[in-house]
Amino acid sequence: MTGREAPGHPEARSADGSVNVSRGTMNLTLQVWRQAGPATDGGLKEYAATGISPDMSFLEMLDVVNERLIGQGDIPIAFDHDCREGICGSCGMMINGVAHGPSRGTAACQLHMRSFKDGDTVLIEPWRARAFPVIKDLVVDRGALDRIVQSGGFISAPTGSAQDGNAIPIRKEDSDSAMDAAACIGCGACVAACPNSSASLFTGAKLSHLGLLPQGQPERYRRALKMVAQMDIESFGGCTFFGECQEACPKEISIDVISRMNRDYLKAAVMQVEERQAGGGE
Ligand code: SF4
Ligand code: FES
Repeated sequence: MTGREAPGHPEARSADGSVNVSRGTMNLTLQVWRQAGPATDGGLKEYAATGISPDMSFLEMLDVVNERLIGQGDIPIAFDHDCREGICGSCGMMINGVAHGPSRGTAACQLHMRSFKDGDTVLIEPWRARAFPVIKDLVVDRGALDRIVQSGGFISAPTGSAQDGNAIPIRKEDSDSAMDAAACIGCGACVAACPNSSASLFTGAKLSHLGLLPQGQPERYRRALKMVAQMDIESFGGCTFFGECQEACPKEISIDVISRMNRDYLKAAVMQVEERQAGGGE
């Protein structure tokens, strides 16, 4: 397990539970993976991150370092980011060997520098997985996840305009589980954290958020076959239930989605054999 802290950054709180007002600045040493492009070798380079406010986000700290690099005529560190509020899934990186860094349920963009101590050395690397080739420095190509979604992550029910909330009764347990699974932001931390580089938590989340709802039923079993097949095509590894994925997931998606994916896949495979034996089906 990764030893990630519980949410709330306890080191930033007083004994009475109140949040400390951060004073002073921190000086850190960064060991950052630099790689000019997909076809070149990369390596770690050391940078000083001085005068850093504990209230800065991790990405703001990298912005400060990059401004200094640009000022010196050096090439800034390339890293992916967009929303900077834990929604888009762009900002994945390994921080001290942990996907998204030390705070549990937190994307790298939501991590604050008060999670580190003055004088710390911080190791920053890109996701490491065959299916996520490095584009530059900390930026990897996560298109493989998009192709898994393209293979089956849709429904054929006409959507039209929004329906009344109670038009289609759905069990609360199912709607809650579907909503939890739909929180996946496609960041790829589950793959990076998995010793097998498996995308099972991601794929299980996408299958669950559609397969638990009535609108997702027509394609439910075909969807499981197609998305699991695409996962294999993309060179992701198999799941052996280490559980590192759910520890790393910034949306705290439960490994239960993988069990649901396996059940649907197994049922789909049996149905496919039966259809073939009956002389019909795909
Ligand atoms: S399951 Fe979690 S870790 Fe994996 S891609 Fe989705 S949000 Fe990221
Ligand atoms: S930048 Fe969007 S989730 Fe981090």
